[in-house]
Amino acid sequence: MCGIVGYIGYEQAAPFLIGGLEKLQYRGYDSAGVCTNDGEKLIVKKEQGKLKELKAMTDDGNNVKGTVGIGHTRWATHGRPSKENAHPHLSRSGKFAVVHNGIIENYMPLKQQLLKNGITFSSQTDTEVVVQLLEFYYDGSFTDTVIKVVSMLKGSYALGIMCMDAPDEIIAVRKGSPLIIGIGEKENYIASDVPAILDKTRNIYRLDNDEIAIIRRDSISVIDREKNNIEKSVEVIEWDIDAAKKGGYEHFMMKEIMEQPKAVHDTVFPRIRNGRVVLDEIKLTPEQIRDFQKINIIACGSAYHVGVVAKYIFEKMLRKPVEVDVASEFKYREPIIDEKTLTIVISQSGETADTKEAMEEAQKLGSHAIAIVNVVGSTIASEADSVIYTLAGPEIAVATTKAYSAQLAVIYLMAVYFGDILGKISEKDYKRYVSEFESLPEKISSILEMREDIKNIAEKYYECKDIFFIGRNIDYALSLEGSLKLKEISYIHSEAYAAGELKHGTISLIEDGTLVIALATYEKLYEKVISNVKEVQTRGASVLAIGCEGRNELHEITENIIFIPKTCDIMLPSLAVVPMQLLAYYVASFKGCDIDNPRNLAKSVTVE
Ligand code: G6P
Repeated sequence: MCGIVGYIGYEQAAPFLIGGLEKLQYRGYDSAGVCTNDGEKLIVKKEQGKLKELKAMTDDGNNVKGTVGIGHTRWATHGRPSKENAHPHLSRSGKFAVVHNGIIENYMPLKQQLLKNGITFSSQTDTEVVVQLLEFYYDGSFTDTVIKVVSMLKGSYALGIMCMDAPDEIIAVRKGSPLIIGIGEKENYIASDVPAILDKTRNIYRLDNDEIAIIRRDSISVIDREKNNIEKSVEVIEWDIDAAKKGGYEHFMMKEIMEQPKAVHDTVFPRIRNGRVVLDEIKLTPEQIRDFQKINIIACGSAYHVGVVAKYIFEKMLRKPVEVDVASEFKYREPIIDEKTLTIVISQSGETADTKEAMEEAQKLGSHAIAIVNVVGSTIASEADSVIYTLAGPEIAVATTKAYSAQLAVIYLMAVYFGDILGKISEKDYKRYVSEFESLPEKISSILEMREDIKNIAEKYYECKDIFFIGRNIDYALSLEGSLKLKEISYIHSEAYAAGELKHGTISLIEDGTLVIALATYEKLYEKVISNVKEVQTRGASVLAIGCEGRNELHEITENIIFIPKTCDIMLPSLAVVPMQLLAYYVASFKGCDIDNPRNLAKSVTVE
């Protein structure tokens, strides 16, 4: 969601800015632009649509002069996607330029005040208020004016700011939305995320909330709003630029699907030592863990679906009540939680605004928050009471796959770890879980081997108008993810239903040819799901069944079957999700969809 880049050095800025924006495309966007200082004025080039429009307009940035600049990919919130609403925005006289990620919540009263003073606006964005305020309050000092203006803003923002009177500086400010500073040799950079600058430097500062960075060619100073210097420590990015490249695959999504055995392996193995699950990242004593009366899980999107799986697993294994909420609902439902409630938040990016705010709400009520996060150093990771990192590596495709799988793996680890502390797991079962952990990556690989079969099924059904996913218990929790994966990248209408609930209304939508994907991996409720399969078949549905190896009777029920290897109940979702991801991928591919950047979606949703 909105990508920011910035460059100050001795090279031409615009080609770097556009290259950086290309690496942030995964965040989702509908327009793009750059601004540079050509020595005489701030020049802005921007266009609605994909980056290729901006690249064509600027000859890949080569016809835009200047060695200082900022760039932006916009994901529209205030004001439709258009050239006028695209960033960078210039102030009235062209003295200031701003790029922004986030939402200025009080932009309306600020705008009214400026309008009363005769300032006119050329866009419908909240961001333009910032740039007009900078010019309105300008007192000759770039830094002082930025401090004055940001203290008037409410909401979330990462800002990259240029001023004609300070041609050798970029100022970066951050509150709520992520922003990093890349440290180079005689050149420095800003960006929303690491991939944008990784081919230039591995050394970064992560800007914290309310910090202001004054970035020059050969220096970076970070101050607070009282102008006190802040000592930042350099973070060295360990992962390789190749991790953020497609590595021979047509799409990031397929690359990331294929990386799942590694993501699960890397997440699980360092946490199994001498046959025991060790989660020493959790800053709670065994007594505190035993004392919890309830578990509260908060997340959005696919991470929420991991939470639904976790509810089934935790309640079954820990015998503690579990509530799971989408973060945007949790915040406003006046939740009943206190210090006896353990909160678990799940987020790939660690920047999702709703999840972050919901976590803060839970913490305010006294709850200890454990965050399961993929992006090291992200906001949620920094603000949580304990952090368990998924070690999935950078995830670029908007539709999550490997991060989802790594999050599931952490849930299993937590279930075994807590179950042991609570005395709910026998030694025999404990050993079995540990041995299943060890074979999980290999079992996932064996499903990936079946991708041609899944592609053939996708070819048969990619023209369907509606696809339903049904299942019971963890199969139901998993069907939520299967359905989301399909609809978000293929745009086929799809719904996930608890198999037993279908007959209470939705079965009326089943007609000849409707595809129903039935998850029948959870052995305890297998027969019941099969009864539901019969119900939909009687009404004309075609069925694709996903079941465990050995359930050969499925051949009598349908010709479309995907068998997954057997494993213990709790780990079934890690296997059954893979064919659904592949199916979604191939269906979208047959439909010719933009798989890595589905319409209207953003990878990291930093607005409420
Ligand atoms: C967006 C992404 C989803 C993701 C959700 C939560 O909607 O497109 O793939 O599941 O945000 O993101 P998080 O980074 O908090 O896991």
